[in-house]
Amino acid sequence: MKIVVMGASGHGQVVADILFQMWTKGREMEIVGFLDDDPALRGSRVLGLPVLGSFADLPATPHDCLALGIGDNETRARVYAQLRQARKRFVTAIHPSAVLAPDVVVGDAAVLAAGSVANPGAHIGENAILNTCSSIDHHCVLGAHAHVAPGAHLAGGVVVGEGALVGVGACAVPGARIGAWSTIGAGAAVTADVPDHATMGGVPARPLA
Ligand SMILES: CC(C)(COP(=O)(O)OP(=O)(O)OC[C@H]1O[C@@H](n2cnc3c(N)ncnc32)[C@H](O)[C@@H]1OP(=O)(O)O)[C@@H](O)C(=O)NCCC(=O)NCCS
Repeated sequence: MKIVVMGASGHGQVVADILFQMWTKGREMEIVGFLDDDPALRGSRVLGLPVLGSFADLPATPHDCLALGIGDNETRARVYAQLRQARKRFVTAIHPSAVLAPDVVVGDAAVLAAGSVANPGAHIGENAILNTCSSIDHHCVLGAHAHVAPGAHLAGGVVVGEGALVGVGACAVPGARIGAWSTIGAGAAVTADVPDHATMGGVPARPLA
């Protein structure tokens, strides 16, 4: 199975490394290389893999499926929608050190990084990211394109809306609802429901002007 990683910046490299770790554990795949729209990366090598061109070069790049290495939620959602429309297939990248309860549902194209934990009943939406050493406890729901950043922890039953970012080291109390496309700042503690499109920070989390 030939995989192309869309995006060669920091998150793209994390995704490529997850795929590499899956390969070392026996998952059959060939990581063909990256595509990235940054002209400065064109023709270079990243993690020993070639940057083969820009996103527009995908049709000319041999591949069976794609991994999305785009950190920004809105951009990742847009690219995912375009590629879905083009009937592309996606790999779900799950680092071998991620710990998932047997009933956890993982959506198409989701990324679960090293040391991430998803407890029973959790649901991870399509194209969502559970990043390094983050955890979502029992019956949490991550909407499509959401991102739980490194070291963030969600207590049981937290619902994260579509496209929301829970920043690095943030946390949320049991049952909190975090609105769609909202941003929870680094280190924040969410103790009450958060509206859609809000930006929150602090302990307890309050709207940031
Ligand atoms: C919350 C956040 C989005 C705000 O970013 P921003 O809109 O660029 O805001 P600014 O940096 O201009 O800061 C605006 C104000 O909010 C404060 N602020 C910024 N981040 C904050 C945070 N995490 N908690 C509390 N206050 C914060 C700033 O001190 C500043 O206050 P001031 O006006 O009194 O000086 C950003 O700081 C953040 O925490 N992002 C999370 C990033 C992340 O974890 N990404 C995951 C990568 S894998």
